[in-house]
Amino acid sequence: MTTKKRVAILISGRGSNMAALIEAASAPDYPAEIVGVLSNRAAAPGLETAAAHGIATASLAQSKFPSREMFEDTMTQVLESWQVDYVCLAGFMLILGEDFVNRWMGRMINIHPSLLPAYKGLNTHERALADGATEHGCTVHFVTPGLDEGPSILQARIPVLPGDTPETLATRLLGEEHRLYPEALRMLAAGEVRL
Ligand code: GRF
Repeated sequence: MTTKKRVAILISGRGSNMAALIEAASAPDYPAEIVGVLSNRAAAPGLETAAAHGIATASLAQSKFPSREMFEDTMTQVLESWQVDYVCLAGFMLILGEDFVNRWMGRMINIHPSLLPAYKGLNTHERALADGATEHGCTVHFVTPGLDEGPSILQARIPVLPGDTPETLATRLLGEEHRLYPEALRMLAAGEVRL
């Protein structure tokens, strides 16, 4: 097959979606390889998972930089040193500035735990339950300057069940996220979807 696309994953914490991407990318016929994982928190458990798979890792604390621009420029330098084609945000809990987003536009995707355009931002499970939603889900989308506003690539839906709590909903949805994100990255890396 043709050369695999080089992908970096940006995380802030647990990294279960990152792990799902690493697992999928280990298949010989997957069109992308995970070449680096970058965290904005040195204590992110996902960094150890990535390192255990022999993947390059880096952590950069925004607070150590005089400005967001300098922090994001350094992130770009790290990503370029890994010769990255695509960037996957996977539980990366910072809002990225316009320069960084424009730099990677069309080559950066995110997974969001709601059926966008519903429930942009945080606490999506709580808000869906508070609204009495009967359906919930997750979206993989291109990252554009507006928060959680880029065009969707794929969505997965789950029913909201009687007695669901934010925790049960999050747990059930996470299983769908782990299936959806590798499929969306596969489509992007294979050239089946573009911004
Ligand atoms: C996931 O629910 C993802 O949709 C959201 O943040 C969470 C990250 O979880 N963007 P993990 O770090 O991938 O386990």
